[in-house]
Amino acid sequence: MDSLMTPECARALLEWQVELGVDEAMADAPVDRYALGAAAGRQTVAAVPHAAPAPSDDAVDPVAAATAAAAQAADLPALATAMAAYPHCELRRGARRFVFADGNPAARVMIVGEAPGNEEDREGRPFVGPAGQLLDRMFAAIGLSRTSSNPATAVYITNVLPWRPPSNRTPEQAEIAMMLPFLRRHITLAAPEVIVMMGNTPCQALLGRAGITRIRGEWTQVLGLPALPMVHPAYLLRQQMAKREAWADLLSLRARLEAAR
Ligand code: URA
Repeated sequence: MDSLMTPECARALLEWQVELGVDEAMADAPVDRYALGAAAGRQTVAAVPHAAPAPSDDAVDPVAAATAAAAQAADLPALATAMAAYPHCELRRGARRFVFADGNPAARVMIVGEAPGNEEDREGRPFVGPAGQLLDRMFAAIGLSRTSSNPATAVYITNVLPWRPPSNRTPEQAEIAMMLPFLRRHITLAAPEVIVMMGNTPCQALLGRAGITRIRGEWTQVLGLPALPMVHPAYLLRQQMAKREAWADLLSLRARLEAAR
């Protein structure tokens, strides 16, 4: 068996476990459980040295800590530094990269997604996988691009969470709540004219509402700014029929930008 375990195979197995969200080794040394009798097994497992438990975090209110850290950030680089150093979100331990934002921070339009996926986690930039490529095509259709240096034709892109949830699971309420002060500060510092919320997670975070297929296309307000909920491009990849409504929402966004020019 051992002779079949090439370094490439071991690496592939490890990557597969990381992909599934494994973020922690249970012991420093592997245990061959076939070689253990039941009783001996219990003894040996008990004897495996464990890392000292981390100091208890119970006294810390993660939302209050995030609110204080976010408030101190005077500009976007300072905010990115404060977020990257924020220790209370467990997702950071399983993620490869911290994903802050992409595009032109001076853009009129700020897009808020959910959280990095696999490709974003590898590259450290939001919306670079298949959903991101569709997002780029959608906004290109109304003359907007993340690579434009002109704020009038640019977009700025971020997510509710800067770390990938294991196996791309939906973010938990507690994770959203603790990262929300950073997102609100992000919006305040970027000061876009319009916000676009992609899918349920940013709507849940910024509006306290989900049900994106019902609320999409209804203009609302976030921090005093016009905000438009749209279905997530990952949903559009699965549900081609929803593209017609997404196109209507993009046209509504374009009309809004043109009216305010
Ligand atoms: N989906 C998101 O919501 N954000 C990303 O960055 C990628 C996929």
